[in-house]
Amino acid sequence: MSKMLYEGKAKKIFSTEKPNEIIVYYKDDATALNGLKKGTIVDKGIMNNTITSFFFELLGKNGIPHHQIRKISDREALCKKVAIIPMEVVTRNIVAGGLAKKMGVEEGYVLKRPLVEFYYKNDELGDPMINADYAEAFGFATDDQVDCMKGYALKINDILKEFLLARKLQLIDFKLEFGVDEEGKVILADEITPDTSRLWDLDTGEKLDKDRFRRDLGGVEEAYREVIRRITDQ
Ligand code: TMP
Repeated sequence: MSKMLYEGKAKKIFSTEKPNEIIVYYKDDATALNGLKKGTIVDKGIMNNTITSFFFELLGKNGIPHHQIRKISDREALCKKVAIIPMEVVTRNIVAGGLAKKMGVEEGYVLKRPLVEFYYKNDELGDPMINADYAEAFGFATDDQVDCMKGYALKINDILKEFLLARKLQLIDFKLEFGVDEEGKVILADEITPDTSRLWDLDTGEKLDKDRFRRDLGGVEEAYREVIRRITDQ
């Protein structure tokens, strides 16, 4: 009998008969502004399961270890159980969103090199920005684990940037989460979707990600569908 272990904003996690495997269930719920704005994006769960499965397979083929075993239904993926490191790892190529506000620069400023940032995963505190010293001092992750996450984040950035560019999508920024598996290795977990990344059309600059929901731009479902169409060449 499978039981729900955890319910997050966009996904539910269920147990399986195997203690080291879980099922991730993708919901249509959408939140923004740290949970203040709530809504639904029709079929988002189905689309995000498809997109994450696609990216994880691509990354796996390129040597990035991740938690996903296989997609098992429209909304479900079978995954390895990991201990999630309570840090969000954000990688940025072009300034947008929070960074544009913080640094007082226009969205679209091209960074001289990719920027990797760490945030402490804590909704009540609004996910404060931290660094490697905080991670080690508060016991979230060791220095080696932080180096490992940063290394993977930059490699994932290279792989995804090139793949997406060939499909006329610009990878502006994205958020990753990592976990520690039963062998003690740091592996990629969570999701990679338009909920957790910014993707702009290369020619028009049109936003094809959750900013359409965050900023009430309309055409949210169409944008997610367009991402699927481009990455799967459908
Ligand atoms: P930001 O510009 O709001 O800091 O977001 C940077 C990237 O991280 C963007 O692609 C959205 C993603 N992100 C999440 O997935 N979850 C979050 O809680 C936040 C703040 C950002």
